Amino acid sequence: MALGSAFDSPESKRRHVATLFATIADRYDLITRVLSYGQDRRWKARLAREACVSSSDVALDLACGTGDIAALLAGLGARLVIGLDLTPRMLHLARRKGGVVRYVAGDMGALPVPARSVDLVTTGYGLRNVPDLDVALAEIARVLRPGGRFLSLDFSRPDAAIVRGVYLGYLTAVGGALGWLLHGDPDTYRYIPASIRRYPGPRGVADRIRAHGFTEVRIVPLLLGLMSLHVARR
Ligand SMILES: C[S@@+](CC[C@H](N)C(=O)[O-])C[C@H]1O[C@@H](n2cnc3c(N)ncnc32)[C@H](O)[C@@H]1O
Repeated sequence: MALGSAFDSPESKRRHVATLFATIADRYDLITRVLSYGQDRRWKARLAREACVSSSDVALDLACGTGDIAALLAGLGARLVIGLDLTPRMLHLARRKGGVVRYVAGDMGALPVPARSVDLVTTGYGLRNVPDLDVALAEIARVLRPGGRFLSLDFSRPDAAIVRGVYLGYLTAVGGALGWLLHGDPDTYRYIPASIRRYPGPRGVADRIRAHGFTEVRIVPLLLGLMSLHVARR
């Protein structure tokens, strides 16, 4: 799965991402723990706390993967939690964990959900992977009711060139080794630093969120700012 043309166009990114997550689904939970230095669960718990879930909430977790965030929202008592993902194998693994979440196949660029029908949209490591960030944000804005909340957890692209170089260099080296070990292909997890390099920094992401009509946009820095949680209101 060569990275070469992965970012040439929205369509090539869509194809690359679809193949990538189908390939790594069964290793996903393990890899996430390793590449987050064991902090992933803590960050997701922070997202869930910041979401201020109430018992009347209809919640939609996008790019739900194996279902960690959706399960947290359900555990906090949301009335209905829907987990949506592109990759059938991820949805299978999520369903296998049990729980009351309703899992559906779908694309963040064309949500199978009526306008203004959702109180809370969350996504963990989702926005960075979509072929077109503005299309996904427009869809999130469409499905949220006025006053609804949106939270996104993802890697950050550090502003400082030296920090950025060290951080992305580290992820490239570790990702390459893990890809080689687990899949015989060093490019597999090198997608992560490559995608971070092309993702706007935290303030850039916040600006794009605001541009889609969200207010009260906040950035919660995690891991000394190498990760970010964006919190916003529709
Ligand atoms: C890095 S995983 C994140 C999984 C989970 N949210 C978590 O935090 O552990 C990214 C997920 O995004 C899904 N995905 C990628 N592009 C997508 C899209 N356009 N629409 C919906 N899901 C997508 C992949 O199938 C994958 O499960």
